Amino acid sequence: MTLDTPRRVVALVPAAGRGVRLGEATPKAFVPVGGSPMLVRAIDGLIASGVVDRIVIMAPIELLDDARKLLAARAHAASSIPVDVVPGGAERTDSVRAGLAAASDATHILVHDAARALTPPALIARVVAELAAGHRAVVPGLPVADTIKSVSADGAVTGTPERAALRAIQTPQGFDAELLRTAYAAELSATDDAGLVEACGATVRVIAGDALAFKITGPLDLRLAEALLSGADHTSGQVGGQQEKRTAVPR
Ligand code: C5P
Repeated sequence: MTLDTPRRVVALVPAAGRGVRLGEATPKAFVPVGGSPMLVRAIDGLIASGVVDRIVIMAPIELLDDARKLLAARAHAASSIPVDVVPGGAERTDSVRAGLAAASDATHILVHDAARALTPPALIARVVAELAAGHRAVVPGLPVADTIKSVSADGAVTGTPERAALRAIQTPQGFDAELLRTAYAAELSATDDAGLVEACGATVRVIAGDALAFKITGPLDLRLAEALLSGADHTSGQVGGQQEKRTAVPR
């Protein structure tokens, strides 16, 4: 991509996880929260951010049609933003790799977990604003409340990193598309996409995350999401009393 290439932001949404820790029969992204599947809420947030040009969802292969029907039945059908559904893979990195293959038109890529269903659109816009400002890898992160320790397989503490320097990393994670492709081509392993980019020697910028971008992983997270949505004012875009604001991103 040259400096003259117009920015085209494609959001990849990994939604192919089984969600074993949630304890539901349905794959996690299809579990409803506040009456809508997590996947639908995540897509709604990406569209509402106003900074995404196209969305690619990676769904379990047996649920491709269900995913397409869900999206067609929602407001996305009325949105001008194309939403495609492709099969995910066995691991999250396999799913993201499948999404990358379907996003050759992207100059910038957001990778955003369907399980972070309540992510405020303003956070998504802030990540893209940082990409637009020239940063090649941008992730939201929150200070950690607990003390974190590394522990050996037999349960002995091997270290206590200084808490003030730690951040719990969320999605959307934003990347220059070429950088993310290079990172995935290296076939390394990491627990998030930024980890792959770091392993290639690139600098990853952390911006302030948002508590509402928490990942719905276990039953307690699901209850929290339900409680937040039951108190939400859907007409004003407020969830849990936090007002949504759009961030202007220069095109
Ligand atoms: O399992 P975990 O909570 O880490 O999953 C994070 C996100 O990655 C979820 O939205 C899940 O659907 C997705 N995922 C995927 N393909 C997998 C495993 C997880 O798309 N094989």
